[in-house]
Amino acid sequence: MRTIEPLKEPLHKEITVPGDKSISHRAIMLASISDKIVEIKNFLTGADCLSTIECMKALGVEIERTGSRVLVKGRGLNGLSEPKDILNAGNSGTTLRLLTGLLSGQNFLTTFTGDESLRRRPMDRIIKPLTKMGAAIAGRRDKYLPLTILPKGNLQGIEYKMPVASAQVKSAILLAGLYATGKTTVIEPATCRDHTEKMLRGFGVAIEKSGNAITLSPPRRLDAPNTIEIPGDISSAAYWIVLATCLDGSEVLIKNVGINETRTGIIDVMRQMGGRIELINKRTSGGEPLADLKVTSSKLHGVEIGGEMIPRLIDEIPIIAVAAAFAEGTTTISGVEELRVKESDRLAAIVEEYNKVTTGYEATDDTLKIFGGHKWRRAQCKTRGDHRLAMSLAVMGMLAEGVTLDNTDCIKISYPNFL
Ligand code: S3P
Repeated sequence: MRTIEPLKEPLHKEITVPGDKSISHRAIMLASISDKIVEIKNFLTGADCLSTIECMKALGVEIERTGSRVLVKGRGLNGLSEPKDILNAGNSGTTLRLLTGLLSGQNFLTTFTGDESLRRRPMDRIIKPLTKMGAAIAGRRDKYLPLTILPKGNLQGIEYKMPVASAQVKSAILLAGLYATGKTTVIEPATCRDHTEKMLRGFGVAIEKSGNAITLSPPRRLDAPNTIEIPGDISSAAYWIVLATCLDGSEVLIKNVGINETRTGIIDVMRQMGGRIELINKRTSGGEPLADLKVTSSKLHGVEIGGEMIPRLIDEIPIIAVAAAFAEGTTTISGVEELRVKESDRLAAIVEEYNKVTTGYEATDDTLKIFGGHKWRRAQCKTRGDHRLAMSLAVMGMLAEGVTLDNTDCIKISYPNFL
């Protein structure tokens, strides 16, 4: 149980957010199958990324971590070994889906499980394309954890049109493509985060992009950089962006934030709503763009969000939904059925939990509507084991009349020192 009190003073602060979760996972995985010792700096020490480290260790990779500095002793493209026990991906969809792709082409058996939330999430979205490539994967009811990947050589490159815009599915296929004969092409319905493609290129892999099609040619080896420095996670910066925007008289500077275009939907939408966010000191590190974000408080108005924008802010919808309640007018966020299969059913959770703090949230199967400007009350809410819900509710409490959260342990998934 944790009570968050309303903030009485405006925020004037310089903030650094932890390393990007998506990039941290990928750095560990690719370094593991390179043939070098790779140093990773500003690694996210959140539970999800630690799950990836534990899985790679179980696959025979030597990994040393001191705080956010990690040394990975790559074992080469074909150097992973059979794990002696079941691997646990914890709460992490990225660990599970990307590694299932990576392990599909190995000559040994791997079984995965995960926590209660991950065991409810659909895996057929990766099983189908990976099976087409020649992988043999069995899951409970063809869809759920536990999942077993049987030993299998000789994957075939495929051309695959993804039915859902998912970076995890895209990445699983591309990572399997490293072990396939011939090229692998993935066609996305809308552009989703491209950290896998960017990092693979940084490891010397030939990746071509043509429209929404990404094609990988299988390499002989991965040529790793000596060091990878992970930018700050824009998904973690999002809580400060909204807090500073909605708290009168505030101004914060969030340092070293990744501003990869496939992730900056939150900045575009907050600006559309009337938010003031300035990008300063823009630069590039390891192929990823970053900047410092200066956020100044301002009055917001409702907007319509949908279509190609959704994958660019998919993880930020819980906190955008908080901002929308402080905006004048109505905000409509459509095409967000994917929220139902995240760490929790986020559409249901937003409506049920946020409406305890205010009123004005409604959802259909795939659309969230927020009527801004309602009254606030102090409330007790459930975080449902979902880190993004917990942090969004905490921000809501700070901006409104305070909130008591039943359990905030889940925050360690992506932002251990948030509270
Ligand atoms: C992620 C992709 C997204 C995102 C998740 C991280 C990734 O999931 O929601 O938090 O690192 O590739 P989907 O691929 O399911 O959209």
